[in-house]
Amino acid sequence: MNILNRPRRLRKNETIRNLIRETKLSVEDFIYPIFVEEGTNIKEEIPSMEGVYRYSVDRVLKEVEEVESLGIKAILLFGIPANKDELGTEGYAEDGIVQKATREIKKVFPQMYVITDVCMCEYTSHGHCGILLENGYVDNDKTLEYLGKIALSHARAGADMIAPSDMMDGRIEYIRNCLDDNGFKTVPIMAYSAKYASSFYGPFRDAADSSPAFGDRKSYQMDPANTDEAMREIELDIMEGADIIMVKPALSYLDIIRRAKDNFNMPLAAYNVSGEYSMLKMAVKEGLLDETAILESLLSIKRAGADIIISYFAKDVAKILK
Ligand code: PBG
Repeated sequence: MNILNRPRRLRKNETIRNLIRETKLSVEDFIYPIFVEEGTNIKEEIPSMEGVYRYSVDRVLKEVEEVESLGIKAILLFGIPANKDELGTEGYAEDGIVQKATREIKKVFPQMYVITDVCMCEYTSHGHCGILLENGYVDNDKTLEYLGKIALSHARAGADMIAPSDMMDGRIEYIRNCLDDNGFKTVPIMAYSAKYASSFYGPFRDAADSSPAFGDRKSYQMDPANTDEAMREIELDIMEGADIIMVKPALSYLDIIRRAKDNFNMPLAAYNVSGEYSMLKMAVKEGLLDETAILESLLSIKRAGADIIISYFAKDVAKILK
């Protein structure tokens, strides 16, 4: 046969396939989320997230040591407080759970890049991401004051980067000003810019005990049906001073990741969320899929345009790539 173009020539063996590979996963692409909880001597597996645990501060150090030894250079901290109230008071307490964990981790592992999630839902008794008005609607501008306090307390504890995940309007600018006015001009903000009201956060809400007590998050998180709106949200965050933009979730939103990468000359993070993790983890555990399915799906996130992948799979990836 006279076939001029034979794409299979470049698939002949591993060497040539490696030479022409366009996208490569590296452990350095990853941020590993860690849950810290008040108390002592706690290492408790999250029932809905096989292989992911909640740690008390005294035991999280061992986990960070393992993470570091695997070559993972950045972690994202989530806190579970001892007590919740209407105003999420423990969220901005100087001795709050994330603040304590950040101080301890930075003391023992100064090279570990510690990012803190700034939100209120883990700290409020009603489980919403802000301060409520009487009618149950989240009061945007009042919430900003609290987000500013939370962000500042994280920076004071030594956080390397702040990651607001609340989806209030104007929060990036508000938090940027709080940080700048208090001597934290060099602390960057990674903004959860296009964060959708997703069912894929289910296992996380188990882990962080942060399900809303009533209603849902649709009055602040985005409608999964929308794309243009995501671009507007990202644009606003950039104008307000975001250093890194984020799309969340990742796997059902690869089109958003691609469009964000094409539209903005910004470092782009994608959050491979708890539901995406648990689905795949279960399928591999049950033998329905091979472990390489994990790498394939994470690769798709990078191929779509993400520079940074936040994933509960980070440790698995590090082990597989080694
Ligand atoms: C806090 C927050 C959530 C997640 C990250 N930050 C939960 C939510 O918005 O309900 C989800 C992460 C995951 O599912 O892995 N607002």
